[in-house]
Amino acid sequence: MDDYLCLIGRGINLGNALEGPTEGEWGVMVHDHYFERIRDAGFNSVRLPVRWSAHAAKQPPYTIEPTFFERIDWILGQALGQELVVILNVQHYDELMQHPGKHRARFLAIWRQIAQRYRDYPRMLYFELLNEPHGVFTAQAWNALAAAALACVRESNPERVVVIGPVNYNSVDQLAFLDLPAQDQRVMATFHFYEPFHFTHQGAAWVDHLGSDSWLGTTWDGTDAQKSDIAAMFAKAQTWAHESGRPLFMGEFGSFGKADMTSRARWTRFVRDTAEQHDLPWLYWEFCSGFGAYDPETNQWRQPLLQALTWD
Ligand code: GLC
Repeated sequence: MDDYLCLIGRGINLGNALEGPTEGEWGVMVHDHYFERIRDAGFNSVRLPVRWSAHAAKQPPYTIEPTFFERIDWILGQALGQELVVILNVQHYDELMQHPGKHRARFLAIWRQIAQRYRDYPRMLYFELLNEPHGVFTAQAWNALAAAALACVRESNPERVVVIGPVNYNSVDQLAFLDLPAQDQRVMATFHFYEPFHFTHQGAAWVDHLGSDSWLGTTWDGTDAQKSDIAAMFAKAQTWAHESGRPLFMGEFGSFGKADMTSRARWTRFVRDTAEQHDLPWLYWEFCSGFGAYDPETNQWRQPLLQALTWD
């Protein structure tokens, strides 16, 4: 299993493209040259967040639109063609977060179809069952649903790496309550990291109900106290990985573009270094949207962020 972790290495999320209501609606279309740029910059992996729930029928058998599947086929082909690991997930299934019981059959049917379609894809393709379970999900309810979804995937993909993260938006603190099937050695765990949240999410519209505009101007100076707060979270994550014997990686971390670039680069470098010191592979959130390390207008990397992510 260790080699699977090594394959993730350093990665980046192709965020705000396929997990919008339709591709492009959140400002990002996936272009073929993106994967070459990502590979050339030294990344090993990409995570592809996808809002399957917007492209599957509402009634049984919950058929996924053929044209949408073809689009995903093309994207996976481009990414795998650059020898990148691809972590394909289910993202923004918001109705499931509110009514897990009502949407259980549809969620499982979506996974059965994805798994069936990609059963013969290379081992570089990983499946991640659900981005950031939250809403009414207790750890117990999520553990049960994840086990059922894993069983659906295993019907057609006995060997595929499957990624499962804990509730409360994949928080490190919830790893302790994540219950993964002991007999399945091809399951990896994941967590997300956005602390301090008032720094990483300052000015972010989707958390304006929390007062994100009032956080504007928050810097991250890398004081000893700030660093030790972050290091403590990573120590906790690493301890969980050691005690559970599960491979663990950080599937998202990043800061929104309204924070000052000096702080962003400093935070990104520190979080990346800390993750690597704790043997935790990582994927930056995200490629070319609000948190973007890459500027799609100029087709150039934002150098301070790229350096923070890739320089020795
Ligand atoms: C989660 C959300 C995504 C958001 C990101 C940063 O991945 O699903 O929409 O942009 O976190 O807040």
